[in-house]
Amino acid sequence: MKRTLLSSLLLFLLPTTIANSPHSADPTFTLHNITYNITEIYRSPSFFAIHDATVSYHLTNSALSYTTQCSAHSSHIYGYFYGGFFNDFFPCDPPPSGVGAGAVANFTFNAADYSFGVNQTWNLDGVNYIGMGSGLSHLDCRHEYWTNDHWTEGQDYSTNLWWCVSHVDVEITVTVSRVEV
Ligand SMILES: *[C@@H]1O[C@H](CO)[C@@H](O)[C@H](O)[C@H]1NC(C)=O
Ligand SMILES: *[C@@H]1O[C@H](CO)[C@@H](O)[C@H](O)[C@H]1NC(C)=O
Ligand SMILES: *[C@@H]1O[C@H](CO)[C@@H](O)[C@H](O)[C@H]1NC(C)=O
Ligand SMILES: *[C@@H]1O[C@H](CO)[C@@H](O)[C@H](O)[C@H]1NC(C)=O
Repeated sequence: MKRTLLSSLLLFLLPTTIANSPHSADPTFTLHNITYNITEIYRSPSFFAIHDATVSYHLTNSALSYTTQCSAHSSHIYGYFYGGFFNDFFPCDPPPSGVGAGAVANFTFNAADYSFGVNQTWNLDGVNYIGMGSGLSHLDCRHEYWTNDHWTEGQDYSTNLWWCVSHVDVEITVTVSRVEV
């Protein structure tokens, strides 16, 4: 009698335990092809003509079958990309038409430590999900500085350029919640 009760209890518990296993269903965001470039051009010793930083990558979500392009510009004069500190949440491109209708991804980037925060909402089999995650990238940067020693009015005075790239994809563990609509 006891044994029967125990085995039916086990039979009852087993599938539930597997279904609720905390990690089996959690997807991963992967940031591919991360590049981060900065362009600063002075037209005179005191005049900043161009100061612009851009970050770009391809985002995949292991729960979804398509790739999203994410990119952003920053031209704050005292620095670029504060990781959401000034409310700079950047939208990724919408998914290709026909797939992932309603999916939206936003991200933050912090140029101080090259960290990313990524949120994405999507719909799968009629259920809406939001996934949130953050992670660090390691960027290798090349720097080029040029100054015009014989500068006269109308020429560029100096250029300061950085090209940064991540040689590996960055995988981010995602916390997923269902969204009731
Ligand atoms: C990464 O960049 C390469 C070369 O441009 C491209 O072929 C590949 O599709 C990109 N990866 C993703 C996930 O988009
Ligand atoms: C950064 O510069 C490299 C080399 O020119 C280019 O391939 C890449 O697309 C640039 N990235 C951004 C975000 O502009
Ligand atoms: C993601 O959502 C959380 C909770 O709403 C928010 O605190 C965080 O700033 C968001 N991050 C991005 C990159 O949108
Ligand atoms: C992305 O940002 C838009 C506009 O601020 C907001 O409406 C949306 O909820 C955000 N989505 C995610 C996934 O954080």
